[in-house]
Amino acid sequence: MVTGGLGYIGSHTVVALLQTGFNVIIVYNLSNSDIFVLSRIREITNREPVFYQIDVCNYEAISVLFEKHEIATVIHFAALKSVSESVLHPLKYYQNNLGSLVNVLLLMEKNEVKNIVFSSSATVYGEPDKLPVTEKTPFKKALSAYGSSKQMGEDILESITATGSIHAIALRYFNPVGAHASALIGELPRGIPNNLMPYITQTGIGKREKLTVYGNNYNTPDGTCIRDFIHVEDLAKAHIRAAERLINNKNESAFDVFNLGTGNGFSVLQLINAFQKITGTKLNFQIGDRRAGDIECIYADVSKANSVLGWKAALGLEDMISSSWKWETGLSFQQTNVG
Ligand code: NAD
Ligand code: WQD
Repeated sequence: MVTGGLGYIGSHTVVALLQTGFNVIIVYNLSNSDIFVLSRIREITNREPVFYQIDVCNYEAISVLFEKHEIATVIHFAALKSVSESVLHPLKYYQNNLGSLVNVLLLMEKNEVKNIVFSSSATVYGEPDKLPVTEKTPFKKALSAYGSSKQMGEDILESITATGSIHAIALRYFNPVGAHASALIGELPRGIPNNLMPYITQTGIGKREKLTVYGNNYNTPDGTCIRDFIHVEDLAKAHIRAAERLINNKNESAFDVFNLGTGNGFSVLQLINAFQKITGTKLNFQIGDRRAGDIECIYADVSKANSVLGWKAALGLEDMISSSWKWETGLSFQQTNVG
């Protein structure tokens, strides 16, 4: 069962699961996804996933699915993810992100479903004292309800796996970017993007007039923030490794955590320059003020994912940028032709 399976990372993971031979049940709502993604998944994989438009916070409705289907593993993507919105509407985030997780866990327990893979985030670390961050790096106090919903999500998993029959893997994604090589699925931000890569591609195509770089006076080589960008297709593969590890009882503890990044940090300006070089598109950008709450520099120590999970990012910055650009230009072409 893949909750949030029509979302950005979920849809790429569903494709990878179907192509690996798993049978997939997608549970989604339309809060941040579009139904056309389903036909794109069919087109890429030539397979038919089972799908339900049900809010995971609706306990009664999803309990029917747990009774109807024999589920080996839940991959729980369903969550709201806007940091800024979560500061304005914290309860909405706690209700959705924690309510959906608790419902899934209650129903797993009731129906004896043993395995769950949870979407966590590098946001749990806050501004780290030491780089790169390892899975043992302590959490800092979260600056948003979104961030604390991920910290609490991990806490819930740690406590329920300590006493019960459920086994869990939390995957801490760094900065997911890129799109499927087919350009049939990719990131679909609603309204003005918060994240850097979609802002870059939308500015490149002319949907946005100008990109603002949030601060160039950080203590980094070029003054702009540094992130560990990770291709969404690599992330998708990590979910397969995690699910297989749980299904095959290979996990050494009932709760385990992995950082998912490339291990390399790139600055905002490096990403902009690489975009211009790789796509041959000049980007209209200006330097602006710092954005409140931004981390100066963060990148992952991925040695645990490499050695224990048997996963390593294969795609570099060029693939991340070119696939994002192919997706953006394809979207723009479709929108123009649809009118
Ligand atoms: P997304 O918004 O594209 O996908 C999430 C999907 O879940 C959406 O389709 C949304 O409609 C659905 N959803 C939300 N609440 C639901 C509910 N109650 N019931 C059913 N469906 C629900 O986001 P994404 O980027 O694919 O992120 C997937 C997961 O990864 C999330 O948990 C997110 O917090 C986490 N994450 C994302 C990033 C990132 O930058 N994209 C980084 C770290 C962690
Ligand atoms: C990256 C860098 C910005 C936009 C967020 C969440 C995190 C995780 C991933 C879910 C920063 C700069 C951005 C722009 C810019 N999501 N930037 N101009 O902030 O690292 O992480 O998404 O878990 O929780 O906080 O990603 O892409 O927003 O920003 O200069 O228009 O790009 O200041 O330095 P971030 P991002």
